[in-house]
Amino acid sequence: MKLAIPKEILAGERRVAAVPETVDKMVKGGLEVWVESEAGQAAFIPNSDYEKVGAKIAPDAASVYAEADIVLKLQRPLFNEQAGKQEIDLMKEGAILVALLQPMSYPDVVQKLAARKISAFSVDLIPRITRAQRMDVLSSMSSIAGYKAVLLAAGAFGKLIPMMTTAAGTLPPAKCLILGAGVAGLQAIATAKRLGATVEAFDTRPAVKEQVKSLGAEFVELELGHEQAEDAGGYAKELSPEFYKKEKELIHQHVKGADIVITTALIPGKKAPVLITTDMVKEMKKGSVIVDMAVEQGGNCELSKVGQDVVEHGVTIIGATNLPSTVPIHASQMYSKNMHNFLFHLYVNKELKLDLNDEITKGALVTHKGEIVNPKVKEIVMKGGTT
Ligand code: NAI
Repeated sequence: MKLAIPKEILAGERRVAAVPETVDKMVKGGLEVWVESEAGQAAFIPNSDYEKVGAKIAPDAASVYAEADIVLKLQRPLFNEQAGKQEIDLMKEGAILVALLQPMSYPDVVQKLAARKISAFSVDLIPRITRAQRMDVLSSMSSIAGYKAVLLAAGAFGKLIPMMTTAAGTLPPAKCLILGAGVAGLQAIATAKRLGATVEAFDTRPAVKEQVKSLGAEFVELELGHEQAEDAGGYAKELSPEFYKKEKELIHQHVKGADIVITTALIPGKKAPVLITTDMVKEMKKGSVIVDMAVEQGGNCELSKVGQDVVEHGVTIIGATNLPSTVPIHASQMYSKNMHNFLFHLYVNKELKLDLNDEITKGALVTHKGEIVNPKVKEIVMKGGTT
């Protein structure tokens, strides 16, 4: 069985879907692994490192995709300028694709995958259950992003972060506010604490309070009343307009005093909630920094712009995307391990078995035999994208 690792073509993408360590295991597991030439270059992995573990190097995209039964990728398939074709059209019909497809945001890609009869697994849909933790790409990548967001904020902040007692006097520690304490938020808390900031965090799920406190941050409390903040899978649920009004009032109070705000609030499949309005930014201290991690889902701050750093009313608002790619070595290593664990969930005893009753396989499968098979994705694709 042939497995392909193409070179990623999204602008700025520096990660690769499999590093030599996991390719070694795939080869030993009986797969014939083909890596597109220079697929690992931006993550500092030369072709020779793949060859050493038994992979073959394909000279270009067309040849790596052509015969592959399984394709492991990072980004959704795009138009490949060099080959003059959409990557989906380079794949053979009926092949398996495993990638971070973000199907709710890219309905056109989903439809094309179905039309081409590709069995596409979107690793961002792997359910966050204990058995699937080893495959949880979103958590790995969000941890890196949460860490990097704080470093970006530190770089743009005109002050120091830790308290410093110097011959020139004592400087107070920076005040950091984290909105949304999921995976990225918790790592942002830990990173800000390590740099010496005082940290406050808020999340609509009271269940995270203990985790926030265990990292040494203060949890900002807001009564939920009778509302249920989590769904059965442990993800945040959409709450009432009254709740969001109260939340904004609370955030308003805390944003005013913050030096650095990292926003990560998101409900899967929904547009990100606006938590910081223009009026709130106007009241923030000059020189403070907001990193809006949810910028690609519409943004938690009214003034953030996708992929840009803007200065508005004296506040730097960072809308950086693809933060994991800025740490390509570790990000590739982590992604690759998660992918390897997912692959060997499907490929057992040298045989490919798609058990459509299995929660993990079924949860991640988006298209199969010409159909969109994930009901949630199907509903959203039919509506034209993220709600
Ligand atoms: P997650 O689902 O683990 O965490 C999101 C958190 O937001 C949850 O704890 C949820 O309860 C909370 N939340 C939802 N609505 C809220 C509200 N109204 N107020 C306060 N908290 C609220 O997601 P994860 O993996 O931590 O990702 C967070 C964000 O970071 C997402 O938007 C994701 O797309 C983004 N991200 C951005 C990257 C980048 O490079 N810019 C890279 C990785 C993730």
